[in-house]
Amino acid sequence: MKLLIKNGTLALGDGEKKADILIEDGKISKIAENITADCKTLDAVGKHVLPGLIDIHVHLREPGFEGKEDIESCSKAAVAGGFTQVCCMPNTDPVCDNAVVVNYIKNRQREVNLCKINPIGAITRGENGAAMADIGKMKRAGAVAISDDGKSVMNSNIMRLAMEYASGFNLKCLCHCEDINLVDGGVVNEGYNSTLTGLKGSLRAAEDIMIARDIALAESLNVPVHICHVSTYSGVEIIRNAKKRGVKVTAETCPHYFILTDDVITGFDTNTKVNPPVREQRDREAIIEAIKDGTIDCIVTDHAPHALKDKQVEYNLAAFGISGIETSFALSYTYLVKAGHIGLCTLVQKMSKTPAQILDLEGGELKVGSPADITVVDLGKKYKIDSGKFISKGKNTPFNGFEVWGKTVCTIVDGDIKYSI
Ligand code: DOR
Ligand code: ZN
Ligand code: ZN
Repeated sequence: MKLLIKNGTLALGDGEKKADILIEDGKISKIAENITADCKTLDAVGKHVLPGLIDIHVHLREPGFEGKEDIESCSKAAVAGGFTQVCCMPNTDPVCDNAVVVNYIKNRQREVNLCKINPIGAITRGENGAAMADIGKMKRAGAVAISDDGKSVMNSNIMRLAMEYASGFNLKCLCHCEDINLVDGGVVNEGYNSTLTGLKGSLRAAEDIMIARDIALAESLNVPVHICHVSTYSGVEIIRNAKKRGVKVTAETCPHYFILTDDVITGFDTNTKVNPPVREQRDREAIIEAIKDGTIDCIVTDHAPHALKDKQVEYNLAAFGISGIETSFALSYTYLVKAGHIGLCTLVQKMSKTPAQILDLEGGELKVGSPADITVVDLGKKYKIDSGKFISKGKNTPFNGFEVWGKTVCTIVDGDIKYSI
């Protein structure tokens, strides 16, 4: 099987370049100008050709919460969003805390056969924070990391053991940083707007304390650690300082943290409810700065689809989470690249190569010999986000009606076209 992508502009590690890409047997076999081949040809004139986007923080919801999303609906949404590979968090039912669930997800991936899916195993059994899960067995079954995402592991000694154990298997702990006692039922950022709305606030400190703890553990044990969805200016500072000391810490953020502030909660729209909460202008600016200076290594979606009934309730009772996999690239391109903060190649790096490196996954680069995981986008295409048109079952987005640039035109996985418009 051959496929030729002609006349596109490639986003490479060292800049943009006009070239053609020839794909043979699922791999990139040639990158050059004016390639000719007798095979199916995709005309990418006026389009950008990117290494397939990789999202290392997604909630697929299957098994157990298929009313919110399932592996098939999420895979379709992922390729429509330009993603060729995702990693899924274990807060399903049953929790992905053993090899059987890891295998189940991998089998479903093979059946659905759209984007690549890498399961993340739980740190503790049932994400209960008390007893360690079968980390070695999950690794052998194909788990690429461990996390109790959705919750913090509050017991520091269990977290210590998990980090040590995981590093022995070459796995990273992905830390959802939230001191649950300090959050104490808070649903939004604690500040002016929580006072104004009467919604219960959650301090930055609830996030920062756990970022600091997990970095302290990683530093003491000399093991790597990855901090999930950073939302505070003060958390950014802790990570920046740790990196300066040589701690093996990496960090991610999501579009909602560099685009929104908690001004959006004053409308009481439950689609703005997310954990950690969107914060203030100072935080938003610090997150952008951290993306620019490399303190934040990668951009993820934390795609957290929910059913309408989980969101169409009063703010305090609504589920936390944003359905983000179909809007992430366009939002990031619009608010980071178009806004002049970073260049396209840096954005692509943070949405493809770097996340792949953090979890030691294949892909992330357009180079000969690599798997042909490729995303073609039209950066000149401006459109309004319409959650009614989402492929994901989760229509829960605070970005409905936002005008963005950049549309996925075609998504190719292992040389096969999995999405095209
Ligand atoms: O907003 C969130 N939603 N944050 C999390 O940590 C979990 C996620 C979910 O699973 O819905
Ligand atoms: Zn989380
Ligand atoms: Zn999450």
